Amino acid sequence: MPLINIKIDGRSYQVVDGMTILQAAKVCGYEIPSLCTYHNGECNVGSCRVCLVEVKGARGLVASCAYPVADGMEISISSQKAMEARRRSVELLLSNHNQNCQQCVKNGKCELLHVANVTRARPEAFAGEHSETHYDELAPGLIRDTSKCILCGRCVARCENAHGLGILGYENRGFRTFVGPAENRSFADSPCIQCGQCVKVCPTGALTEHSEIHKVDEAFRAGKHVIVQAAPAVRAALGEEFDYPVGTPVTGKMIAALRRLGFEKVYDVNFGADLTIMEEGTELLGRLQNGGVLPMITSCSPGWVNYAEYQYSDLLPHLSSCKSPHQMQGAIIKSFWAQEHNIAPEDIFVVSVMPCTAKKYERQREQLKVNGIPDVDAVITTRELARMIRRAGIMFRHLPDEDWDQDIMGDYSGAGVIFGVTGGVMEAALRTVYYKLTGKEKEGITFKEVRGHDGGIREASIDIDGTVINVALASGMRSAKVLLDEIRAGKSKYHFIEIMGCPGGCINGGGQPYVRSTLLPKEEPNIEGTYKEKRALALYSEDERQVIRQSHNNPQIQELYRRFLGEPNSHKAHELLHTSYAPREGFNDIDR
Ligand code: SF4
Ligand code: SF4
Ligand code: SF4
Ligand code: FES
Repeated sequence: MPLINIKIDGRSYQVVDGMTILQAAKVCGYEIPSLCTYHNGECNVGSCRVCLVEVKGARGLVASCAYPVADGMEISISSQKAMEARRRSVELLLSNHNQNCQQCVKNGKCELLHVANVTRARPEAFAGEHSETHYDELAPGLIRDTSKCILCGRCVARCENAHGLGILGYENRGFRTFVGPAENRSFADSPCIQCGQCVKVCPTGALTEHSEIHKVDEAFRAGKHVIVQAAPAVRAALGEEFDYPVGTPVTGKMIAALRRLGFEKVYDVNFGADLTIMEEGTELLGRLQNGGVLPMITSCSPGWVNYAEYQYSDLLPHLSSCKSPHQMQGAIIKSFWAQEHNIAPEDIFVVSVMPCTAKKYERQREQLKVNGIPDVDAVITTRELARMIRRAGIMFRHLPDEDWDQDIMGDYSGAGVIFGVTGGVMEAALRTVYYKLTGKEKEGITFKEVRGHDGGIREASIDIDGTVINVALASGMRSAKVLLDEIRAGKSKYHFIEIMGCPGGCINGGGQPYVRSTLLPKEEPNIEGTYKEKRALALYSEDERQVIRQSHNNPQIQELYRRFLGEPNSHKAHELLHTSYAPREGFNDIDR
């Protein structure tokens, strides 16, 4: 792209042609307030008008998020006219906004509050009538509160771009306009997969996760044995909540914080990931060798499982019957661990810390109970954990590094760590399948051909001593749909497919910290892409540091099979670690 000359507030700069004024200004070191456009230009409805600037020769003020730069352009960000116009735009948004900032979970991360502060907007400048509002807390994963919605449309764009689902849209006209599922239905009565991608991009508190912190509090009060397990993607992003650079793993401090919050045991879900690989790898080999249903599709992303149950129920036999890692580990805590510690499963309360809002539904599935007892009792997101840490007054950055509890479920392999990245489940499984087929470890250990995928579809043919396994990966339902339609049409050439609900996998899950553009280099055009990449690197580097890098070499996994489960896919393993699926129409089968 050619460079062009522009002026901002009287100073000369060279920028790449084709950018919007908003993007070009950022490259030159200026932050123009913006709300309705997302960092990478996703969603440009141009509705909020908080990004107005003056352009010499243009008629009136222009929306910098939509207006392209041109050679010789002279832009005024700081003229009185532009500053007043931006302030008025924010004041208009505030005039129809439920401003209970003190109680709002978005406070501290709220982009509306940020632009109100920057523009010095007066909250009561246009005080008047408020439009009718809608509050939906029936769905397990998310809450919608239109009293805080600024109609920016980011959620609408994200759901459509990631999944092609179009769950959210504008309803009504004029002052009565609101954003929600069709006919103002609850998320619980729509084909929403509870992924939380819309929550992640919402600039205000209009969309939030359905918090389960109160359930954890109640369990402590009831004197339960409260045990926590944290997913790999959490440690790669939790630091962002405490102003660490993106991609800083904070495993040791996270464990120390969990102990200070009062959890009796602090476990890593990586152990459960290793267990999943033992079961899933064995299941795949069984299907390959005994003419089972192929391609087999991974089942550890509950957003994807929800989508399959809604939209592709004819393909449910393709899903691996394996529970996801935290559900497997929960089942082991309430059986083997309970037995070893002589504690009744009813007295144990398992909390999973997850990057995912869909896990809040998963834990409530009837098919994920053993003898009527759920494997997992509460799911909190990375953001909720950060909230609990702040609420308890724990100074995260001052914490020492501590280690996981080591009894029974303390060991984990590098294969378990990379579960959080798209392609990670596939690579972890291939490491074990390679060993099972050849009786030796793969030289160099890794399968880099299934890495580096970010949305879209990636495929590879893996030749293991003459056995060719065709694999494919997709994350986000828009790309998964292509692979699923091929299967439906009988044209799929794959043996094994990994599908993740969120684009980029769990590191970009709907429960991860909100992406803040100001923390990233100004040259970065695709801000969310950089977050995914940096968080993924944090996990790949942890894999490289592990002495054990294949699930089957985890000594505590070997011991669990020797002492309790027998063989992978044994009767007992099936009873505790496998599940089933059924077509669905909503999320009304949950405890409220
Ligand atoms: S969304 Fe933002 S401005 Fe609105 S109540 Fe919450 S913190 Fe305050
Ligand atoms: S949770 Fe996911 S599927 Fe549901 S509306 Fe939001 S983005 Fe769409
Ligand atoms: S719910 Fe959030 S993201 Fe969606 S339109 Fe409203 S403010 Fe924007
Ligand atoms: S950010 Fe430009 S109009 Fe909303």
